[in-house]
Amino acid sequence: MENALIVDGLRKRYGHTTAVDGVSFEVAPGEIFGILGENGSGKTTTVECVQALRRADSGSVRVFGVDPQADRARLRSIVGSQLQESELPDRLRVWEALDLFSAISPASADWRELLADWGLADKRDTAFASLSGGQRQRLLVALALVNRPRLVFLDEMTTGLDPSARRVAWDLIDEIRARGTTVVLVTHFMDEAERLCDRLAVFQRGRIIAEGTPPGLVDAHAGEAAVFFTTDLADLSWLADAQGVERIERTGSHVSVRGTGPLLAYTAAALVAHGIAPTDLRSERRSLEDAFLALTTAEAEVAT
Ligand SMILES: Nc1ncnc2c1ncn2[C@@H]1O[C@H](COP(=O)(O)OP(=O)(O)O)[C@@H](O)[C@H]1O
Ligand SMILES: [Mg+2]
Repeated sequence: MENALIVDGLRKRYGHTTAVDGVSFEVAPGEIFGILGENGSGKTTTVECVQALRRADSGSVRVFGVDPQADRARLRSIVGSQLQESELPDRLRVWEALDLFSAISPASADWRELLADWGLADKRDTAFASLSGGQRQRLLVALALVNRPRLVFLDEMTTGLDPSARRVAWDLIDEIRARGTTVVLVTHFMDEAERLCDRLAVFQRGRIIAEGTPPGLVDAHAGEAAVFFTTDLADLSWLADAQGVERIERTGSHVSVRGTGPLLAYTAAALVAHGIAPTDLRSERRSLEDAFLALTTAEAEVAT
């Protein structure tokens, strides 16, 4: 199937700052693809070049086969982009915003449907400034979808939201994809990337330093897994032969097992096979944040 997005060798400098330094990645249709990185790592510049909002110094981009610089009109008809909250006037009413965006977009959806779909029907006549954080978020999503895009860019969509509004935003992102739109999600939040993205690229100083699924990145970079349990059994030497197990440490009845892969499952299987089933068997959850920190620290050391 045709890729939703192909970025190849993208570079962009601002004066002496190299913001994007040779970035390549592909996004498949129907994916939620994450661009994860610290502030200043080149995420926004990348997605702005991809949308022809900036001109890259070099590299090529195709959005469903369209060259954004060469065919902006077609690009506008297939991509949607979420605005920053500050870009809407306070007094603009919900229906006016949707009506205005429909009027200027090439192939617009019926905004009345969007109003209902995104739970804004009873806020139709409410001014932007009087909406709650969650309602504003839903309006910004509805506006991004007004041209029925095949690919939508969400750049730091949840920055500044309180925890419950973030959850609402996450559900909205799932919902966008469930309706068949491919999503490129730009974020510096590890938990958000881990929860939402099918695959993601980790950006650092304008480069991609790792790419993969969240569990894949965790397995490859977050370090060893650890599993804990207690037992009075004296001899655990057989556990060292279990799959994935690399090290066993013991203090009295407290046992910790270090290793790789799905260590909790491997350890549990070995214990049960030897007739013990500790009720306190648990693993330390390794997260995308562990992987990210390991990756970015390792790269920073190489660079200095
Ligand atoms: N318009 C601009 N003029 C000059 N430098 C810029 C401009 N926009 C971004 N930069 C610089 O480019 C780098 C990447 O910025 P940006 O793409 O906004 O990163 P991110 O979105 O990951 O925070 C940063 O060093 C930033 O200061
Ligand atoms: Mg940014």
